[in-house]
Amino acid sequence: MTTQVPGGDDGDEVTIRPAERVDLLAVVRIENASFEQPWPYDAFDRFLGEPGFLVAVTDGAVAGYVVADVTSKFGRELGHIKDIAVHPDRRGVGVGSALLSRALAVLAARGADSVKLEVRRSNDGAKRLYREFGFEPLRRVPGYYGNDEDAIVMLRKLD
Ligand SMILES: CC(C)(COP(=O)(O)OP(=O)(O)OC[C@H]1O[C@@H](n2cnc3c(N)ncnc32)[C@H](O)[C@@H]1OP(=O)(O)O)[C@@H](O)C(=O)NCCC(=O)NCCS
Repeated sequence: MTTQVPGGDDGDEVTIRPAERVDLLAVVRIENASFEQPWPYDAFDRFLGEPGFLVAVTDGAVAGYVVADVTSKFGRELGHIKDIAVHPDRRGVGVGSALLSRALAVLAARGADSVKLEVRRSNDGAKRLYREFGFEPLRRVPGYYGNDEDAIVMLRKLD
C-alpha cells in the first residue's frame, strides 16, 4: 500500500509492506542508529512472516519499520507494538505515523481488542506520537531497560 506522507512533497510517498529477508540489514542499521540497546539481527529474523512486521519504503529504500504481534491472554487477544523506528534522516515527515497506523490495522484485523507498548520514560517524542494515536499511560515499570531506566506501559483499546 502506498500512502502520501502527511505534509510531504509530491515525491514523499511511503509504501508500507510486510518485511522481507532482503530488508533485514537495512532494518538492523536503523535499529542500531536508533537505540542504545538494539535488537540483534536474529531477533528480527524470527519475526519474518509475522503480519505485524512491516517496513516503510521511501525512494526505494527502507526508511523505517515496526514489529507488532498478537498474543492470547486470559481469553483475550492482546496486540503488542514491540519495536518501531525510522531512519534518523527520515524522521518528522510522517513515516512513523504511517507505520503505526498500518500496524494497528493489522492487529485489529487479527482480532486484537487492545494494544500495548513499552516506551522509555525519557522518550518524549515517541510518547507524543503514541498519545496522538490514542495510547494512554497505564503503569510504570521501574528499571525495565538495561540502563535502569523506567518503562511506561501504554495501552489503547481497539474498536
Ligand atoms: C518515534 C519515531 C518512530 C517517530 O517516527 P517519525 O517518522 O519521526 O514520526 P512522525 O513524523 O510520524 O511524527 C508523528 C508525531 O510524533 C511526535 N514525534 C515524533 N518524534 C518526535 C520528536 N523527536 N520530538 C517531538 N515529537 C515527536 C510528534 O507528535 C509528531 O507529530 P507532528 O508531526 O504532528 O509533530 C522516530 O522518532 C524514531 O525512530 N525514534 C527513535 C526510535 C524510538 O524511539 N522508537 C520508539 C521506541 S518506544
